[in-house]
Amino acid sequence: MNSHNSSLSLSNDEAQKSELCLALFRQSLKSIDMDHDGTHFDINRPHVFVILGASGDLARKKIYPTIWWLYRDNLLPPNTVFYGYARSKTTVEEIKIKCEQYMNVKPEERERYDQFWELNRYISGQYNSRTDFEKLNQELTCFEKGAVANRLFYLALPPSVFEEITVHIRNSCMAVKGWTRIIIEKPFGRDLNTSQKLSDHLASLFAEHQIYRIDHYLGKEMVQNLMTLRFGNRIFNPSWNRDNIASIQISFKEPFGTQGRGGYFDEFGIIRDIMQNHLLQILTLVAMEKPATCQPDDIRDEKVKVLKSIKVLELKDVVLGQYVGNTEGEGEAKLGYLDDPTVPEGSVTPTYALAVLKINNERWDGVPFIVKCGKALNDRKAEVRIQFKDVPGDIFDGKPKRNELVIRVQPGEALYVKLMVKTPGMAFDMEETELDLTYGSRYAGVKLPDAYERLILDVFCGSQMHFVRSDELSEAWRIFTPLLHRIETEKVKPISYKYGSRGPKEADEMLVKNNFTYTGSYKWKPKM
Ligand code: NDP
Ligand code: BG6
Repeated sequence: MNSHNSSLSLSNDEAQKSELCLALFRQSLKSIDMDHDGTHFDINRPHVFVILGASGDLARKKIYPTIWWLYRDNLLPPNTVFYGYARSKTTVEEIKIKCEQYMNVKPEERERYDQFWELNRYISGQYNSRTDFEKLNQELTCFEKGAVANRLFYLALPPSVFEEITVHIRNSCMAVKGWTRIIIEKPFGRDLNTSQKLSDHLASLFAEHQIYRIDHYLGKEMVQNLMTLRFGNRIFNPSWNRDNIASIQISFKEPFGTQGRGGYFDEFGIIRDIMQNHLLQILTLVAMEKPATCQPDDIRDEKVKVLKSIKVLELKDVVLGQYVGNTEGEGEAKLGYLDDPTVPEGSVTPTYALAVLKINNERWDGVPFIVKCGKALNDRKAEVRIQFKDVPGDIFDGKPKRNELVIRVQPGEALYVKLMVKTPGMAFDMEETELDLTYGSRYAGVKLPDAYERLILDVFCGSQMHFVRSDELSEAWRIFTPLLHRIETEKVKPISYKYGSRGPKEADEMLVKNNFTYTGSYKWKPKM
Protein backbone atom coordinates (compact mmCIF):
# COMPACT_ATOMS: atom_id res chain seq x y z
CA MET A 1 0.00 0.00 0.00
CA ASN A 2 2.21 2.68 -1.22
CA SER A 3 0.15 5.70 -1.40
CA HIS A 4 1.94 8.95 -1.64
CA ASN A 5 0.88 11.54 -4.13
CA SER A 6 1.98 15.04 -3.37
CA SER A 7 -0.74 16.80 -5.36
CA LEU A 8 -4.25 17.10 -4.02
CA SER A 9 -5.76 15.15 -6.91
CA LEU A 10 -5.95 11.44 -6.17
CA SER A 11 -4.05 8.70 -7.99
CA ASN A 12 -5.98 5.52 -8.89
CA ASP A 13 -4.50 3.83 -5.89
CA GLU A 14 -5.54 6.63 -3.57
CA ALA A 15 -8.98 6.91 -5.10
CA GLN A 16 -9.51 3.22 -4.41
CA LYS A 17 -8.48 3.69 -0.82
CA SER A 18 -10.80 6.65 -0.41
CA GLU A 19 -13.55 4.48 -1.79
CA LEU A 20 -12.64 1.85 0.77
CA CYS A 21 -12.80 4.45 3.49
CA LEU A 22 -16.20 5.63 2.33
CA ALA A 23 -17.41 2.06 2.10
CA LEU A 24 -16.25 1.40 5.65
CA PHE A 25 -18.04 4.49 6.85
CA ARG A 26 -21.23 3.57 5.03
CA GLN A 27 -21.06 0.05 6.38
CA SER A 28 -20.68 1.42 9.86
CA LEU A 29 -23.61 3.79 9.64
CA LYS A 30 -25.86 1.23 11.29
CA SER A 31 -23.91 1.30 14.53
CA ILE A 32 -23.12 5.00 14.66
CA ASP A 33 -24.48 6.87 17.64
CA MET A 34 -26.84 9.16 15.81
CA ASP A 35 -28.41 10.30 19.04
CA HIS A 36 -25.85 13.01 19.67
CA ASP A 37 -26.61 14.96 16.57
CA GLY A 38 -29.61 13.19 15.11
CA THR A 39 -28.49 14.37 11.71
CA HIS A 40 -27.22 12.60 8.62
CA PHE A 41 -23.69 11.21 9.14
CA ASP A 42 -21.25 13.08 6.95
CA ILE A 43 -17.72 11.85 6.29
CA ASN A 44 -16.69 15.41 5.41
CA ARG A 45 -17.51 16.86 8.78
CA PRO A 46 -14.52 17.87 10.95
CA HIS A 47 -12.98 15.14 13.10
CA VAL A 48 -10.49 15.67 15.89
CA PHE A 49 -8.32 12.92 17.26
CA VAL A 50 -6.93 13.83 20.68
CA ILE A 51 -4.03 11.85 22.13
CA LEU A 52 -3.93 12.31 25.87
CA GLY A 53 -0.44 11.39 27.03
CA ALA A 54 1.06 12.50 23.72
CA SER A 55 4.55 12.73 25.20
CA GLY A 56 4.58 9.07 26.29
CA ASP A 57 5.87 5.72 25.13
CA LEU A 58 2.63 4.29 23.72
CA ALA A 59 1.89 7.50 21.84
CA ARG A 60 5.34 7.52 20.29
CA LYS A 61 5.58 3.83 19.44
CA LYS A 62 2.00 3.02 18.46
CA ILE A 63 -0.49 5.86 18.26
CA TYR A 64 1.34 8.45 16.18
CA PRO A 65 2.67 5.79 13.77
CA THR A 66 -0.83 4.34 13.39
CA ILE A 67 -2.55 7.63 12.65
CA TRP A 68 0.22 8.47 10.20
CA TRP A 69 -0.28 5.16 8.33
CA LEU A 70 -4.04 5.69 8.24
CA TYR A 71 -3.55 9.25 7.01
CA ARG A 72 -0.94 8.13 4.46
CA ASP A 73 -3.35 5.53 3.08
CA ASN A 74 -6.24 8.02 2.87
CA LEU A 75 -8.32 6.00 5.28
CA LEU A 76 -9.29 8.83 7.58
CA PRO A 77 -12.10 11.34 7.02
CA PRO A 78 -10.54 14.10 4.90
CA ASN A 79 -11.10 16.83 7.46
CA THR A 80 -9.26 15.29 10.42
CA VAL A 81 -6.72 16.95 12.70
CA PHE A 82 -4.68 15.55 15.57
CA TYR A 83 -4.19 17.14 18.97
CA GLY A 84 -1.56 15.95 21.43
CA TYR A 85 -2.14 16.78 25.10
CA ALA A 86 0.18 16.08 28.04
CA ARG A 87 1.81 17.81 31.00
CA SER A 88 5.25 18.11 29.33
CA LYS A 89 6.21 21.46 27.88
CA THR A 90 7.01 20.02 24.48
CA THR A 91 6.18 20.80 20.86
CA VAL A 92 4.92 18.99 17.77
CA GLU A 93 8.44 19.28 16.38
CA GLU A 94 9.92 17.46 19.39
CA ILE A 95 7.25 14.76 19.28
CA LYS A 96 7.92 14.32 15.57
CA ILE A 97 11.60 13.69 16.27
CA LYS A 98 10.84 11.17 19.03
CA CYS A 99 8.39 9.29 16.80
CA GLU A 100 10.62 9.25 13.73
CA GLN A 101 12.12 5.76 14.17
CA TYR A 102 8.68 4.12 14.50
CA MET A 103 6.96 5.81 11.53
CA ASN A 104 8.46 3.79 8.62
CA VAL A 105 8.44 6.64 6.16
CA LYS A 106 9.59 5.81 2.65
CA PRO A 107 11.58 8.50 0.82
CA GLU A 108 8.74 9.04 -1.67
CA GLU A 109 6.30 9.63 1.21
CA ARG A 110 8.22 12.53 2.74
CA GLU A 111 6.00 15.30 1.43
CA ARG A 112 2.84 13.59 2.62
CA TYR A 113 4.54 12.91 5.94
CA ASP A 114 5.21 16.62 6.38
CA GLN A 115 1.57 17.33 5.51
CA PHE A 116 0.59 14.89 8.25
CA TRP A 117 2.60 16.75 10.87
CA GLU A 118 1.15 20.06 9.71
CA LEU A 119 -2.21 18.71 10.83
CA ASN A 120 -0.87 18.13 14.33
CA ARG A 121 -1.09 20.49 17.28
CA TYR A 122 0.18 20.11 20.82
CA ILE A 123 -1.27 21.54 24.01
CA SER A 124 0.41 21.32 27.36
CA GLY A 125 -1.93 20.94 30.32
CA GLN A 126 -2.48 19.20 33.62
CA TYR A 127 -4.67 16.12 33.87
CA ASN A 128 -6.51 17.46 36.90
CA SER A 129 -7.22 21.00 35.75
CA ARG A 130 -10.64 21.94 34.51
CA THR A 131 -9.23 25.23 33.16
CA ASP A 132 -6.70 23.34 31.03
CA PHE A 133 -9.39 21.12 29.55
CA GLU A 134 -11.53 24.17 28.83
CA LYS A 135 -8.52 25.57 26.99
CA LEU A 136 -8.28 22.32 25.03
CA ASN A 137 -11.95 22.59 24.19
CA GLN A 138 -11.50 26.14 22.90
CA GLU A 139 -8.68 24.96 20.63
CA LEU A 140 -10.80 22.11 19.27
CA THR A 141 -13.72 24.46 18.72
CA CYS A 142 -11.50 26.88 16.78
CA PHE A 143 -10.57 24.14 14.34
CA GLU A 144 -14.10 22.77 14.03
CA LYS A 145 -15.61 26.14 13.05
CA GLY A 146 -19.12 25.03 13.91
CA ALA A 147 -21.07 22.73 16.15
CA VAL A 148 -21.19 19.68 13.89
CA ALA A 149 -17.92 17.84 14.49
CA ASN A 150 -16.81 14.50 15.87
CA ARG A 151 -14.23 13.96 18.61
CA LEU A 152 -12.09 10.95 19.56
CA PHE A 153 -10.05 10.89 22.75
CA TYR A 154 -7.29 8.31 23.09
CA LEU A 155 -6.20 7.77 26.69
CA ALA A 156 -2.54 6.80 26.21
CA LEU A 157 -1.95 7.29 29.93
CA PRO A 158 -1.38 5.41 33.17
CA PRO A 159 -4.68 4.13 34.60
CA SER A 160 -4.12 6.22 37.75
CA VAL A 161 -5.31 9.33 35.86
CA PHE A 162 -8.19 7.73 33.87
CA GLU A 163 -10.85 8.83 36.33
CA GLU A 164 -10.06 12.53 36.58
CA ILE A 165 -9.35 12.88 32.87
CA THR A 166 -12.63 11.32 31.84
CA VAL A 167 -14.50 13.66 34.19
CA HIS A 168 -12.83 16.64 32.49
CA ILE A 169 -13.63 15.32 29.03
CA ARG A 170 -17.25 14.90 30.06
CA ASN A 171 -17.46 18.36 31.65
CA SER A 172 -15.47 20.40 29.18
CA CYS A 173 -14.70 18.63 25.92
CA MET A 174 -17.74 16.80 24.56
CA ALA A 175 -18.68 17.38 20.94
CA VAL A 176 -21.65 19.73 20.74
CA LYS A 177 -23.39 18.21 17.73
CA GLY A 178 -21.59 15.11 16.67
CA TRP A 179 -20.24 12.08 18.45
CA THR A 180 -17.58 11.74 21.13
CA ARG A 181 -15.71 8.45 21.53
CA ILE A 182 -13.24 7.47 24.23
CA ILE A 183 -10.51 4.91 23.59
CA ILE A 184 -9.04 3.24 26.66
CA GLU A 185 -5.97 1.04 26.91
CA LYS A 186 -5.56 -1.86 29.29
CA PRO A 187 -5.03 -2.43 32.18
CA PHE A 188 -8.74 -1.96 32.94
CA GLY A 189 -8.29 -2.23 36.69
CA ARG A 190 -6.23 -4.73 38.71
CA ASP A 191 -9.00 -7.07 39.79
CA LEU A 192 -12.77 -7.45 39.81
CA ASN A 193 -13.34 -4.62 42.31
CA THR A 194 -11.07 -2.00 40.78
CA SER A 195 -12.26 -2.83 37.29
CA GLN A 196 -15.89 -2.59 38.41
CA LYS A 197 -15.15 0.77 40.00
CA LEU A 198 -13.63 2.02 36.74
CA SER A 199 -16.54 0.62 34.70
CA ASP A 200 -19.07 2.29 37.02
CA HIS A 201 -17.17 5.54 36.81
CA LEU A 202 -17.10 5.45 33.00
CA ALA A 203 -20.74 4.41 32.86
CA SER A 204 -21.65 7.46 34.96
CA LEU A 205 -20.07 9.70 32.30
CA PHE A 206 -20.55 7.97 28.96
CA ALA A 207 -22.83 5.48 27.27
CA GLU A 208 -21.27 2.08 26.59
CA HIS A 209 -21.37 2.75 22.83
CA GLN A 210 -19.01 5.70 23.36
CA ILE A 211 -16.37 3.61 25.15
CA TYR A 212 -13.79 1.63 23.16
CA ARG A 213 -11.67 -0.66 25.37
CA ILE A 214 -8.72 -1.76 23.28
CA ASP A 215 -7.28 -5.24 23.44
CA HIS A 216 -4.94 -5.04 20.47
CA TYR A 217 -4.98 -8.82 19.99
CA LEU A 218 -8.54 -8.38 18.69
CA GLY A 219 -7.05 -6.37 15.82
CA LYS A 220 -4.72 -9.14 14.65
CA GLU A 221 -5.41 -10.82 11.33
CA MET A 222 -5.62 -14.40 12.56
CA VAL A 223 -7.67 -13.49 15.62
CA GLN A 224 -10.18 -11.72 13.38
CA ASN A 225 -10.02 -14.77 11.12
CA LEU A 226 -11.35 -17.11 13.82
CA MET A 227 -14.99 -16.21 13.17
CA THR A 228 -14.70 -16.79 9.42
CA LEU A 229 -12.75 -19.98 9.84
CA ARG A 230 -15.26 -21.45 12.26
CA PHE A 231 -18.55 -20.22 10.90
CA GLY A 232 -17.75 -19.72 7.21
CA ASN A 233 -16.69 -23.34 6.67
CA ARG A 234 -18.68 -26.53 7.09
CA ILE A 235 -15.59 -28.63 7.65
CA PHE A 236 -14.64 -27.49 11.15
CA ASN A 237 -17.79 -26.93 13.17
CA PRO A 238 -19.11 -30.52 13.36
CA SER A 239 -15.87 -31.65 14.99
CA TRP A 240 -15.37 -28.53 17.13
CA ASN A 241 -16.42 -30.13 20.42
CA ARG A 242 -15.66 -32.49 23.30
CA ASP A 243 -16.36 -35.57 21.18
CA ASN A 244 -13.39 -34.86 18.91
CA ILE A 245 -11.06 -32.41 20.58
CA ALA A 246 -8.62 -33.59 23.27
CA SER A 247 -7.27 -30.21 24.36
CA ILE A 248 -6.73 -26.67 23.16
CA GLN A 249 -3.59 -24.64 23.78
CA ILE A 250 -3.36 -20.89 23.36
CA SER A 251 0.21 -19.70 23.73
CA PHE A 252 2.13 -16.46 23.77
CA LYS A 253 5.92 -16.33 23.93
CA GLU A 254 8.40 -13.49 23.88
CA PRO A 255 12.15 -14.04 23.60
CA PHE A 256 13.04 -10.97 25.67
CA GLY A 257 12.64 -9.95 29.29
CA THR A 258 11.31 -6.76 30.82
CA GLN A 259 13.82 -4.57 28.95
CA GLY A 260 13.79 -1.88 31.63
CA ARG A 261 9.96 -1.92 31.89
CA GLY A 262 10.24 -4.01 35.05
CA GLY A 263 8.72 -1.29 37.23
CA TYR A 264 5.47 -1.34 35.24
CA PHE A 265 5.51 -5.08 34.74
CA ASP A 266 6.06 -5.90 38.38
CA GLU A 267 2.85 -4.15 39.37
CA PHE A 268 0.85 -6.38 37.05
CA GLY A 269 2.67 -9.64 36.24
CA ILE A 270 2.18 -11.87 33.22
CA ILE A 271 -1.36 -12.96 34.14
CA ARG A 272 -2.70 -9.40 34.05
CA ASP A 273 -0.39 -8.33 31.21
CA ILE A 274 -1.22 -11.10 28.73
CA MET A 275 -3.37 -13.95 29.99
CA GLN A 276 -6.45 -12.27 31.46
CA ASN A 277 -6.91 -10.15 28.34
CA HIS A 278 -5.14 -11.19 25.11
CA LEU A 279 -5.30 -14.96 25.64
CA LEU A 280 -8.74 -15.00 27.18
CA GLN A 281 -10.11 -12.94 24.28
CA ILE A 282 -8.71 -15.50 21.83
CA LEU A 283 -10.19 -18.29 23.92
CA THR A 284 -13.68 -16.80 23.78
CA LEU A 285 -13.52 -16.60 19.98
CA VAL A 286 -12.34 -20.21 19.76
CA ALA A 287 -14.98 -21.52 22.15
CA MET A 288 -18.11 -19.40 21.63
CA GLU A 289 -21.26 -20.60 19.89
CA LYS A 290 -22.25 -19.16 16.52
CA PRO A 291 -23.68 -15.67 17.09
CA ALA A 292 -27.13 -14.83 15.73
CA THR A 293 -25.58 -12.27 13.36
CA CYS A 294 -22.26 -10.54 12.84
CA GLN A 295 -23.45 -7.48 14.77
CA PRO A 296 -20.97 -6.55 17.51
CA ASP A 297 -23.39 -7.13 20.36
CA ASP A 298 -24.47 -10.54 19.11
CA ILE A 299 -20.83 -11.59 18.99
CA ARG A 300 -20.06 -10.12 22.38
CA ASP A 301 -23.14 -11.79 23.88
CA GLU A 302 -21.70 -15.16 22.83
CA LYS A 303 -18.27 -14.30 24.20
CA VAL A 304 -19.79 -13.38 27.54
CA LYS A 305 -21.70 -16.68 27.65
CA VAL A 306 -18.43 -18.61 27.30
CA LEU A 307 -16.80 -16.59 30.06
CA LYS A 308 -19.78 -17.18 32.33
CA SER A 309 -19.32 -20.93 31.87
CA ILE A 310 -15.69 -20.86 32.98
CA LYS A 311 -14.99 -21.85 36.55
CA VAL A 312 -12.91 -19.59 38.78
CA LEU A 313 -9.22 -20.55 38.59
CA GLU A 314 -7.48 -22.09 41.56
CA LEU A 315 -3.81 -22.35 42.41
CA LYS A 316 -3.79 -26.04 41.48
CA ASP A 317 -4.77 -25.09 37.91
CA VAL A 318 -1.65 -23.01 37.26
CA VAL A 319 2.11 -23.19 36.90
CA LEU A 320 3.94 -19.95 37.63
CA GLY A 321 7.49 -19.12 36.64
CA GLN A 322 10.04 -16.32 36.84
CA TYR A 323 13.11 -16.15 34.62
CA VAL A 324 16.64 -16.22 35.91
CA GLY A 325 19.81 -15.28 34.04
CA ASN A 326 21.38 -17.82 31.73
CA THR A 327 25.11 -17.92 32.44
CA GLU A 328 25.68 -19.40 28.97
CA GLY A 329 23.59 -16.70 27.28
CA GLU A 330 24.75 -13.41 25.85
CA GLY A 331 23.91 -9.81 26.74
CA GLU A 332 20.46 -9.43 28.32
CA ALA A 333 20.08 -13.22 28.52
CA LYS A 334 22.62 -13.32 31.34
CA LEU A 335 20.26 -11.27 33.47
CA GLY A 336 17.30 -12.60 35.39
CA TYR A 337 14.07 -10.74 36.18
CA LEU A 338 15.38 -9.81 39.63
CA ASP A 339 18.53 -8.29 38.08
CA ASP A 340 16.39 -5.59 36.42
CA PRO A 341 17.07 -2.53 38.63
CA THR A 342 13.46 -1.36 38.22
CA VAL A 343 12.11 -4.62 39.74
CA PRO A 344 11.69 -4.56 43.56
CA GLU A 345 14.12 -6.79 45.41
CA GLY A 346 12.86 -10.31 46.03
CA SER A 347 9.77 -9.83 43.84
CA VAL A 348 7.70 -12.99 43.30
CA THR A 349 5.82 -11.60 40.31
CA PRO A 350 5.42 -14.31 37.66
CA THR A 351 6.90 -13.71 34.21
CA TYR A 352 5.51 -17.06 33.01
CA ALA A 353 2.13 -18.62 33.63
CA LEU A 354 0.22 -21.64 32.41
CA ALA A 355 -3.40 -22.07 33.42
CA VAL A 356 -5.92 -24.79 32.65
CA LEU A 357 -9.42 -23.43 32.17
CA LYS A 358 -12.55 -25.56 32.03
CA ILE A 359 -15.68 -24.50 30.21
CA ASN A 360 -18.74 -25.98 31.79
CA ASN A 361 -21.11 -26.29 28.84
CA GLU A 362 -22.38 -29.01 26.57
CA ARG A 363 -19.81 -28.40 23.83
CA TRP A 364 -16.69 -28.26 25.99
CA ASP A 365 -17.30 -30.18 29.21
CA GLY A 366 -14.02 -31.96 30.06
CA VAL A 367 -11.86 -30.32 27.39
CA PRO A 368 -8.86 -28.52 28.93
CA PHE A 369 -8.21 -25.04 27.53
CA ILE A 370 -4.56 -24.45 28.31
CA VAL A 371 -3.44 -20.84 28.17
CA LYS A 372 0.26 -20.16 28.57
CA CYS A 373 2.40 -17.08 28.26
CA GLY A 374 5.84 -15.96 29.18
CA LYS A 375 8.68 -13.53 28.76
CA ALA A 376 12.36 -14.38 28.14
CA LEU A 377 11.50 -17.69 26.45
CA ASN A 378 13.05 -19.53 23.50
CA ASP A 379 10.84 -18.10 20.78
CA ARG A 380 8.54 -15.32 19.70
CA LYS A 381 5.11 -16.64 18.82
CA ALA A 382 1.40 -16.54 19.51
CA GLU A 383 -0.71 -19.46 18.37
CA VAL A 384 -3.80 -21.57 18.96
CA ARG A 385 -3.21 -25.32 18.86
CA ILE A 386 -6.29 -27.51 18.65
CA GLN A 387 -5.35 -31.11 19.30
CA PHE A 388 -7.81 -33.77 18.21
CA LYS A 389 -8.36 -37.08 19.98
CA ASP A 390 -6.68 -40.34 19.00
CA VAL A 391 -8.37 -42.23 16.18
CA PRO A 392 -10.73 -44.75 17.80
CA GLY A 393 -10.54 -48.40 16.68
CA ASP A 394 -6.99 -48.02 15.38
CA ILE A 395 -5.96 -50.55 12.69
CA PHE A 396 -2.45 -49.17 12.19
CA ASP A 397 -0.63 -50.54 15.25
CA GLY A 398 -0.66 -47.24 17.14
CA LYS A 399 1.13 -45.36 14.38
CA PRO A 400 -1.38 -42.52 13.78
CA LYS A 401 -0.40 -39.35 15.60
CA ARG A 402 -3.04 -36.91 16.73
CA ASN A 403 -4.27 -34.34 14.25
CA GLU A 404 -3.61 -30.73 15.15
CA LEU A 405 -5.03 -27.57 13.71
CA VAL A 406 -2.61 -24.73 14.35
CA ILE A 407 -3.62 -21.12 13.93
CA ARG A 408 -0.44 -19.11 14.00
CA VAL A 409 -1.22 -15.55 15.03
CA GLN A 410 2.38 -14.33 14.80
CA PRO A 411 4.97 -14.13 13.49
CA GLY A 412 4.19 -15.25 9.94
CA GLU A 413 0.42 -15.73 9.97
CA ALA A 414 -0.44 -19.32 9.03
CA LEU A 415 -3.01 -22.00 9.37
CA TYR A 416 -1.90 -25.60 9.20
CA VAL A 417 -3.35 -28.99 9.91
CA LYS A 418 -1.07 -31.80 10.95
CA LEU A 419 -2.33 -35.09 9.56
CA MET A 420 -1.30 -38.61 8.56
CA VAL A 421 -0.77 -39.77 4.97
CA LYS A 422 0.47 -42.95 3.36
CA THR A 423 4.19 -42.59 2.90
CA PRO A 424 4.51 -41.71 -0.77
CA GLY A 425 5.97 -44.51 -2.86
CA MET A 426 5.81 -48.29 -2.85
CA ALA A 427 5.72 -48.76 0.91
CA PHE A 428 2.39 -49.07 2.72
CA ASP A 429 3.56 -47.16 5.73
CA MET A 430 2.39 -43.81 7.10
CA GLU A 431 3.86 -40.46 8.05
CA GLU A 432 2.89 -37.08 9.45
CA THR A 433 2.52 -34.13 7.12
CA GLU A 434 0.58 -30.91 6.92
CA LEU A 435 -2.00 -28.99 4.95
CA ASP A 436 -0.32 -25.64 5.01
CA LEU A 437 -1.83 -22.22 4.44
CA THR A 438 1.06 -19.86 5.05
CA TYR A 439 -0.19 -16.35 4.38
CA GLY A 440 3.24 -15.09 3.28
CA SER A 441 3.16 -17.40 0.26
CA ARG A 442 -0.59 -17.77 -0.43
CA TYR A 443 -1.20 -14.04 -0.10
CA ALA A 444 2.24 -12.80 -1.10
CA GLY A 445 2.22 -9.04 -1.49
CA VAL A 446 -0.99 -8.49 0.46
CA LYS A 447 -0.42 -5.95 3.19
CA LEU A 448 -1.76 -7.08 6.55
CA PRO A 449 -2.38 -3.93 8.56
CA ASP A 450 -1.10 -3.52 12.07
CA ALA A 451 -3.65 -4.35 14.78
CA TYR A 452 -3.82 -0.71 15.90
CA GLU A 453 -4.56 0.47 12.36
CA ARG A 454 -7.63 -1.73 12.15
CA LEU A 455 -8.82 -0.83 15.62
CA ILE A 456 -8.42 2.94 15.36
CA LEU A 457 -10.19 2.87 12.02
CA ASP A 458 -12.98 0.87 13.67
CA VAL A 459 -13.38 3.66 16.22
CA PHE A 460 -13.75 6.23 13.45
CA CYS A 461 -16.30 3.92 11.86
CA GLY A 462 -18.18 3.32 15.11
CA SER A 463 -17.75 -0.45 15.07
CA GLN A 464 -17.32 -2.01 18.51
CA MET A 465 -17.04 -5.56 17.18
CA HIS A 466 -13.35 -5.83 18.11
CA PHE A 467 -13.54 -4.02 21.44
CA VAL A 468 -14.15 -5.33 24.93
CA ARG A 469 -17.59 -4.73 26.46
CA SER A 470 -17.88 -4.03 30.19
CA ASP A 471 -19.61 -7.34 31.00
CA GLU A 472 -16.86 -9.27 29.19
CA LEU A 473 -14.36 -7.49 31.32
CA SER A 474 -16.04 -8.22 34.62
CA GLU A 475 -16.45 -11.92 33.71
CA ALA A 476 -12.75 -12.07 32.80
CA TRP A 477 -11.82 -10.58 36.17
CA ARG A 478 -14.21 -12.94 37.98
CA ILE A 479 -12.21 -15.90 36.64
CA PHE A 480 -8.79 -14.56 37.63
CA THR A 481 -9.30 -12.38 40.72
CA PRO A 482 -9.33 -15.06 43.49
CA LEU A 483 -6.17 -16.62 42.02
CA LEU A 484 -4.39 -13.26 41.73
CA HIS A 485 -5.31 -12.34 45.29
CA ARG A 486 -4.08 -15.69 46.59
CA ILE A 487 -0.78 -15.40 44.69
CA GLU A 488 -0.28 -11.94 46.13
CA THR A 489 -1.35 -12.50 49.73
CA GLU A 490 0.51 -15.80 50.08
CA LYS A 491 3.48 -14.51 48.04
CA VAL A 492 3.47 -17.76 46.06
CA LYS A 493 6.99 -18.35 44.83
CA PRO A 494 7.26 -18.88 41.08
CA ILE A 495 9.44 -21.67 39.64
CA SER A 496 12.72 -20.41 38.19
CA TYR A 497 13.34 -20.98 34.49
CA LYS A 498 16.35 -20.00 32.44
CA TYR A 499 16.24 -17.01 30.12
CA GLY A 500 15.83 -18.42 26.60
CA SER A 501 14.33 -21.77 27.69
CA ARG A 502 10.79 -23.13 27.08
CA GLY A 503 9.78 -22.23 30.62
CA PRO A 504 9.46 -24.48 33.69
CA LYS A 505 9.38 -28.23 33.02
CA GLU A 506 6.39 -28.40 35.38
CA ALA A 507 4.41 -26.65 32.62
CA ASP A 508 5.05 -29.54 30.22
CA GLU A 509 4.00 -31.98 32.93
CA MET A 510 0.78 -30.03 33.31
CA LEU A 511 0.19 -30.35 29.54
CA VAL A 512 0.54 -34.11 29.73
CA LYS A 513 -1.92 -34.25 32.63
CA ASN A 514 -4.36 -32.25 30.54
CA ASN A 515 -4.58 -34.47 27.51
CA PHE A 516 -2.00 -32.75 25.31
CA THR A 517 0.34 -35.20 23.61
CA TYR A 518 3.64 -33.91 22.31
CA THR A 519 5.43 -36.31 20.01
CA GLY A 520 8.20 -34.08 18.68
CA SER A 521 8.25 -36.32 15.59
CA TYR A 522 6.88 -33.77 13.14
CA LYS A 523 9.24 -31.81 10.93
CA TRP A 524 8.01 -28.99 8.76
CA LYS A 525 9.95 -27.93 5.71
CA PRO A 526 9.21 -24.35 4.71
CA LYS A 527 8.60 -23.93 0.97
CA MET A 528 11.63 -22.50 -0.80
P1 NDP B 1 5.69 -29.73 16.72
O1 NDP B 1 4.93 -30.93 17.04
O2 NDP B 1 7.08 -29.84 16.31
O3 NDP B 1 5.70 -28.75 17.97
C1 NDP B 1 4.57 -28.39 18.63
C2 NDP B 1 4.88 -27.46 19.76
O4 NDP B 1 5.02 -28.22 20.90
C3 NDP B 1 6.16 -26.67 19.69
O5 NDP B 1 5.97 -25.50 18.99
C4 NDP B 1 6.44 -26.41 21.18
O6 NDP B 1 5.78 -25.20 21.55
C5 NDP B 1 5.76 -27.53 21.86
N1 NDP B 1 6.68 -28.41 22.55
C6 NDP B 1 7.98 -28.60 22.37
N2 NDP B 1 8.47 -29.48 23.29
C7 NDP B 1 7.42 -29.86 24.02
C8 NDP B 1 7.26 -30.75 25.10
N3 NDP B 1 8.28 -31.43 25.59
N4 NDP B 1 6.04 -30.90 25.61
C9 NDP B 1 5.01 -30.22 25.13
N5 NDP B 1 5.08 -29.35 24.09
C10 NDP B 1 6.29 -29.19 23.56
O7 NDP B 1 4.81 -29.09 15.58
P2 NDP B 1 4.60 -27.63 15.06
O8 NDP B 1 3.21 -27.58 14.68
O9 NDP B 1 4.99 -26.62 16.01
O10 NDP B 1 5.54 -27.49 13.79
C11 NDP B 1 6.94 -27.46 13.87
C12 NDP B 1 7.49 -26.19 13.28
O11 NDP B 1 7.01 -25.95 11.98
C13 NDP B 1 7.09 -25.01 14.07
O12 NDP B 1 8.14 -24.09 14.10
C14 NDP B 1 5.92 -24.47 13.30
O13 NDP B 1 5.72 -23.15 13.58
C15 NDP B 1 6.38 -24.72 11.90
N6 NDP B 1 5.31 -24.78 10.90
C16 NDP B 1 5.02 -23.66 10.29
C17 NDP B 1 4.11 -23.63 9.31
C18 NDP B 1 3.84 -22.39 8.68
O14 NDP B 1 4.28 -21.35 9.13
N7 NDP B 1 3.07 -22.41 7.65
C19 NDP B 1 3.40 -24.80 8.82
C20 NDP B 1 3.72 -25.95 9.57
C21 NDP B 1 4.65 -25.90 10.59
P3 NDP B 1 6.05 -24.49 22.92
O15 NDP B 1 7.50 -24.49 23.20
O16 NDP B 1 5.51 -23.17 22.65
O17 NDP B 1 5.29 -25.19 23.98
C1 BG6 C 1 1.12 -5.88 25.51
C2 BG6 C 1 1.89 -6.26 26.75
O1 BG6 C 1 -0.25 -5.83 25.79
O2 BG6 C 1 1.35 -6.84 24.50
C3 BG6 C 1 3.36 -6.40 26.45
O3 BG6 C 1 1.68 -5.27 27.74
C4 BG6 C 1 3.59 -7.34 25.29
O4 BG6 C 1 4.05 -6.89 27.60
C5 BG6 C 1 2.71 -6.94 24.11
O5 BG6 C 1 4.96 -7.27 24.92
C6 BG6 C 1 2.80 -7.97 22.99
O6 BG6 C 1 2.14 -7.49 21.87
P1 BG6 C 1 2.51 -8.05 20.42
O7 BG6 C 1 1.51 -7.42 19.52
O8 BG6 C 1 3.92 -7.61 20.15
O9 BG6 C 1 2.42 -9.53 20.50
